[in-house]
Amino acid sequence: MIDLFSDTQSRPTPGMREAMARAEVGDEQAGADPTTNALCARVAELLGMEDAVFMPSGTMCNLAAILAQTRPGDEIVVDASSHIFNTEAASAATIAGVSSLPITTADGVFSASDAEAAVRPKIRTAPRSALISVENTTAFSGGSVWPLATMRAVRDVAKRHGLAAHVDGARLLNAVAATGISAADYVQGFDTAWIDLSKGLGCPVGAVLCGSKPLIIEAWRWKYRLGGAMRQSGILAAAGLYALDHHVEQLRIDNANAQALDAGLRAIEGIVIAAPTQSNILRFSVQSLGVTADAFARACLERGVRMRATDAYEIRATTHLDVDTDGIATAIEVSREVAGALGRG
Ligand SMILES: Cc1ncc(COP(=O)(O)O)c(C=O)c1O
Repeated sequence: MIDLFSDTQSRPTPGMREAMARAEVGDEQAGADPTTNALCARVAELLGMEDAVFMPSGTMCNLAAILAQTRPGDEIVVDASSHIFNTEAASAATIAGVSSLPITTADGVFSASDAEAAVRPKIRTAPRSALISVENTTAFSGGSVWPLATMRAVRDVAKRHGLAAHVDGARLLNAVAATGISAADYVQGFDTAWIDLSKGLGCPVGAVLCGSKPLIIEAWRWKYRLGGAMRQSGILAAAGLYALDHHVEQLRIDNANAQALDAGLRAIEGIVIAAPTQSNILRFSVQSLGVTADAFARACLERGVRMRATDAYEIRATTHLDVDTDGIATAIEVSREVAGALGRG
C-alpha cells in the first residue's frame, strides 16, 4: 500500500522502536521522567521558548494553549480552514467556552489587515478578542507555508491589541524544511507554539507545547484537568528525541516527493493541481475528468494507492517517510490509469 492519506500514517521505524524500548523512565506527573524532560528541553530550545510540556496530541496542545490564555466568553481568531475551527470537535467552544471568528482565505494564510479587522472593538456588547492562531503549515488548505513577514505582522497585530499569539505548528518543521527559516525565527514573539511528533516525524503519539514558564505552568494544569498527564511517558518521548535526531532531514525529502507528485499529476490530462504545492501536502481536482473525488480515490485504493477525498471533486495527498520515490512514481502511474479508466475520454 502506498499510503498518501496523511503523514499521520507514518509508522515508527525499527530504530525508533529500539530507542523507545531503551528509554529511561520515571513519573511524568511528578516531573521525574528524565526522557520526557529531555524532550521538552530540546523542543523549547528548538523553538527558542522558555519552557515546554509534553502532550498526548496536537489537539490537546491547541486546547491547553487556548484554555491558558482565554476566559469563557472570549473570542479567538482563526483561519476558516484551520484544524482548530474544523476538526477539534468544537473543543474551544465546549471546553474553553470561547467563540471562534474564522477568517476566510484561499490558502489558510491571512494578512495583518485581515487580523486587524477581526479584532473586536472594546465595547460591552462584543466578545473580548483574546487570541490569534496561525497554522503553519496549513493542513486543509494544502500545506501552505506562511511567509515569515506575514506571520510576524499578524503577531504584531495581536500584541498591539493585547491578545495572545499562538502557533499551531503541527507541521512547522515542514515549513522549516521548505524555507530554511528556523523554527525559532518562525515563532519568535508568539506566546505559545507547538510541534507534532506523530506526523512527518513518524512517532506513534505526542506533541510538545512551548511558551513562557508561567504559561507552561498553566498549560500543565489544563493537561491534568483534561486527563493528559502521564506516568512513564519516556517511552513515548524517546520516540520524539529519536525523530529529532533522525527524521528532520526526511521532511525535506517529503517536500521534494510532494513536488515530484505535483509534476507527475500535472502531466495527466483532466487532473488539475488545486493549489501551489509548498510542503508535503498536495491538493488536486478531478472535476475535469467528470468523476467524483470519492470514486477516483476508491479506484486508486483498489490499485494500492490511498489518498483522501476532501470534498466532492478534490483529493489530498500527503507525503511522509513511509513513501519513497518509487512509491511516488507508482502513485502517479495509478492516477494516470484511473484517470484513463474513469475519465470522460
Ligand atoms: C494543523 C493541525 N493542527 C492540529 C492537529 C491535531 O494534531 P493531533 O492529531 O496530534 O491531535 C493536526 C492533525 O492533523 C493538524 O493537521
